[in-house]
Amino acid sequence: MTEKVALVTGAARGIGLATAHRFLREGWQVVMLDRDGEELRKVAQGLNAALPIIADVSVPEDVDKSIAEITERFGRLDALVNNAGVADFGPITETSFERWRRIMATNLDGVFLTSQAATPLLAKEGSGAIVNIASISGLRASTLRVAYGTSKAAVIQLTLQQAAELGEIGIRANAVAPGPVRTKLAMAVHTPEIIAAYHDALPLNRYGSEEEISNAIWFLCSDEASYITGQVLAADGGFHGTGVGLPALRG
Ligand SMILES: NC(=O)c1ccc[n+]([C@@H]2O[C@H](COP(=O)([O-])OP(=O)(O)OC[C@H]3O[C@@H](n4cnc5c(N)ncnc54)[C@H](O)[C@@H]3O)[C@@H](O)[C@H]2O)c1
Repeated sequence: MTEKVALVTGAARGIGLATAHRFLREGWQVVMLDRDGEELRKVAQGLNAALPIIADVSVPEDVDKSIAEITERFGRLDALVNNAGVADFGPITETSFERWRRIMATNLDGVFLTSQAATPLLAKEGSGAIVNIASISGLRASTLRVAYGTSKAAVIQLTLQQAAELGEIGIRANAVAPGPVRTKLAMAVHTPEIIAAYHDALPLNRYGSEEEISNAIWFLCSDEASYITGQVLAADGGFHGTGVGLPALRG
């Protein structure tokens, strides 16, 4: 057993929930934060080492209250996984400012606010880790992702900024850029045609699982990654590493 504490945002389902379970299996205490209180209460039930917190990462007061609760309850924080995210795809001409702001508020503002508020606690033990969940959409541009893709590219740059500035107080910052995973978020924006096209473009020929993404997150938070900071790990079935024309070449 360890005393270590992780905060996972967006932990009520999908990649965040799988990540919370991974930390629990490793013997950590896990703060599961989500704005979906009903779902969060359901999934946290019976998990003795989990503390559910209902909060919205895009609301500064919510974030500050959450960090205050963690400080009071545990007095330490060893890993922060900024996973809460929203996807909403649309063409540039149909992306209203309201839609743009809604995506940025969670995907970018949320990462900034939560990391900033958690920094003093992450620095306390001299070995804190931040893992921000970006996306292959932040590494490669594609249609319909003006807000989502831009928010994720910004998260990658924010990660580099955090690595540059927080290293000297003992905090490592890395990003995981998942490829497609069949979560509620992905299924809301992936049509059957998109799913087939992804299979074709991915060298591993399939979507990833939540557990496969959580393995990458866990590694970057663990002591095994103690000399790694400022990196973007694409857990994406090879999508980012390959160029154009692959399906045709295969045929
Ligand atoms: N699923 C994919 O294919 C995929 C691919 C690349 C990147 N990602 C990224 O991985 C992360 C997790 O995605 P997922 O597929 O598990 O999504 P999901 O929709 O299944 O789960 C996201 C969780 O975050 C919560 N959440 C959303 N906004 C929030 C906010 N403002 N405050 C607090 N909680 C909030 C939701 O309530 C939900 O429980 C996201 O950042 C997403 O952009 C997912």
